[in-house]
Amino acid sequence: MLSFNSSAKHFLLDGAPIELSPEELTEMNSMRWWHQIPFAPGVKSNGFSDGVRHISDYLLDEVDFKGKSVADIGCWDGFQLFFAEAHGARKVVGIDDLSQRHSGDNAREFAKRKLQSEVEFLDSNVYHLSPATHGAYDMVMMFGVIYHLVYPMLGIEKACSIARNEILFATHYIESKPEVPPFCILYENGELEGDMSNWSGPNLAWLEAALAIQGFEIVKAHRYFNDRITIHAKRVENQHTQNSRLNTVRDTTMIEEFRSRMEASS
Ligand SMILES: C[S@@+](CC[C@H](N)C(=O)[O-])C[C@H]1O[C@@H](n2cnc3c(N)ncnc32)[C@H](O)[C@@H]1O
Repeated sequence: MLSFNSSAKHFLLDGAPIELSPEELTEMNSMRWWHQIPFAPGVKSNGFSDGVRHISDYLLDEVDFKGKSVADIGCWDGFQLFFAEAHGARKVVGIDDLSQRHSGDNAREFAKRKLQSEVEFLDSNVYHLSPATHGAYDMVMMFGVIYHLVYPMLGIEKACSIARNEILFATHYIESKPEVPPFCILYENGELEGDMSNWSGPNLAWLEAALAIQGFEIVKAHRYFNDRITIHAKRVENQHTQNSRLNTVRDTTMIEEFRSRMEASS
């Protein structure tokens, strides 16, 4: 038995380690993880994505989680939710479409158990989210999902629909000069990193416009790596919400047809 002394809940606050028996170590190492989650010094899950490194990339160390209900769309093993919970979120809900992952292990339940987390996991495609079915949250996070979407505008609309006040997301994006209008590239044949699950490359103006249409205003945009950006946006009253332009758009038959087609195919 690896023996350590402190409450699991605070592992990301003060580095307090978690006890893992030899059997649990074997179990952890046999699972396919997405996130590297540190459980104790020198003991972390063997995921592809270094959760700790992404804390600053995703602005997790800047936003205030205290007392908030937080959902994370595309949460995979839940690292960012465990972080939010350790930093004072009162409720954390992970939403993921398990069919979109390239490995199926339920490692997140192992992490939840060991971290004594109260996170709740829901299985849903972002396109199917609604506040009536999935709840509404003070803050919605969505990291590494938008560029996987064929319909990024709809993904943003659905994510915003369950966000009461704030949205925090990270995505691949295309850098462009400020005078360039909003655009979003469609990667038809895996042109982005040779990955056929990558579909969309918006510029910042597109992200700003897409959020504005949903009634959100960017409060911080943080570029990391060459082509990644994290956006923190807050709900505001704006010209779109005041003019009810969205309702006009939603009334058109064309949009409804498009939605049914997309929902049937996902
Ligand atoms: C690149 S991983 C990012 C994982 C995690 N958010 C992070 O940043 O470390 C993409 C995640 O998005 C999820 N995903 C992709 N398309 C989705 C969709 N249409 N609806 C819901 N989740 C989706 C995948 O299942 C996966 O968990």
